[in-house]
Amino acid sequence: MISGKGSNLAAILEAGVPVKAVVSNRSGVGGLDIARAAGIQIAAIERKAFAGRTEWEDAMAGFIEAAGCNLVALAGFMRILSGAFIDRFKGRIVNLHPSLLPDFKGLDTHARALAAGKKEHGCTAHWIIPELDEGPIIRQAKVKIRPEDTPQTLQERVLAAEHMMYPQVIKDILAGRVDLPE
Ligand code: GRF
Repeated sequence: MISGKGSNLAAILEAGVPVKAVVSNRSGVGGLDIARAAGIQIAAIERKAFAGRTEWEDAMAGFIEAAGCNLVALAGFMRILSGAFIDRFKGRIVNLHPSLLPDFKGLDTHARALAAGKKEHGCTAHWIIPELDEGPIIRQAKVKIRPEDTPQTLQERVLAAEHMMYPQVIKDILAGRVDLPE
């Protein structure tokens, strides 16, 4: 599930992960071009095209289920999903968050890590539960913060760490090497 550039999707594909389908909540984004070029079935399912949030989520869930996905990986997906949607994929839906959770849930994590004077930052792959950015942590990758870092330079290094870590997390889950959340 994506919302934008799809740099994580590209890394996942380059790592040889068998991606069955890609859904984006925004049309015309780079991630959809990447998926299309890889011959993967895609759907742009925009919230504004639906009367209510439930109908929007049902459309995304229906597309994912019809594609026969075993695992749902959010990769730069920037909307909050309801408990009902998450329960539909309970135990097989993961997210990648650009901070060392539980620090810096939510947005603008790089600027916040710098403002907090942190010495290190990074990214976290975690199982998704209804509470935002709260699910059991699967793996983290750390990035040293440098004195000259800006939110942009820090984000670039965190993104590189994401591209290294997330595809491997997904491969490990699919190979049964990661404990499922109870
Ligand atoms: C990245 O910063 C990632 O940490 C977050 O979404 C952003 C964009 O990801 N999850 P992508 O380039 O669209 O994969």
